[in-house]
Amino acid sequence: MLAQGMASFISFQIIGLMGRMQRVPDLSDATWLIVGLHSGLAMLLSLFLRLPPWWLIIQAAFVPAVVLAFRLGVAPASYLLAFAVFWLIFRDNTAERVPLYLSSDRCWQAVGDLLPTDRPIRFLDAGCGLGGGLRTLARRFPESHFEGIESAPLPWLYARFMARKLPNCRIRPGNLRELDFQPYDVVYAFLSPQPMPGIWCKVRREMRPGSHFISNSFGVPGFEPDRIIPVGDRGNSRLLLWEL
Ligand SMILES: C[S@@+](CC[C@H](N)C(=O)[O-])C[C@H]1O[C@@H](n2cnc3c(N)ncnc32)[C@H](O)[C@@H]1O
Repeated sequence: MLAQGMASFISFQIIGLMGRMQRVPDLSDATWLIVGLHSGLAMLLSLFLRLPPWWLIIQAAFVPAVVLAFRLGVAPASYLLAFAVFWLIFRDNTAERVPLYLSSDRCWQAVGDLLPTDRPIRFLDAGCGLGGGLRTLARRFPESHFEGIESAPLPWLYARFMARKLPNCRIRPGNLRELDFQPYDVVYAFLSPQPMPGIWCKVRREMRPGSHFISNSFGVPGFEPDRIIPVGDRGNSRLLLWEL
């Protein structure tokens, strides 16, 4: 927002200056010139602000997309609708910085291979997304109990609906930070680097000795896992396992 705001301010100053010098013939003809100037400035400012590379594309495309939508006469309510759909799917993306992407089938296979076969366990997928992995594990280990917690409404609804016929699989709505990890033998998380330090404090505070915390790919700065298991999938995922 800062980059977009500053780009608007600077491009208006430049266009104003050009106008005073009578170098801008007609604003309606110059729309794409202004848009191009704005996009270029927004990209430069994003570089200066050290934003990750994908932000440069977003910053460059933002104003051209707005102008294009305006010219195509897109109904204003569609923006609200699009926002609502995105919110329903990616609710915690801005606060938690964890979007919805899924562990591969190979990951779930590897997670299953780590679970004990001699006794039933209680397993939690913290931020379970669509719940596909939980269903796979619930079928593979019918004696054990698999739970997921998900804060985004649509994924939670989908996961819950899909698990309705599995008595050993429960999907609950809510924030994983508010759930006590104490009852679980294994907690699995596939989140992002951002929440890992906080999750690790929670794991250390609440999980019992002898239980396991597994993070898909994201480590905890300063705390080496006890085991690292390469999964061998296309995303080069690794399971990081801590024995509490
Ligand atoms: C990267 S996806 C992983 C989905 C699934 N666990 C898997 O491995 O396929 C992370 C999910 O965690 C959810 N999430 C992020 N922060 C959360 C929070 N604080 N409480 C509950 N769910 C959260 C997101 O909505 C998203 O669906």
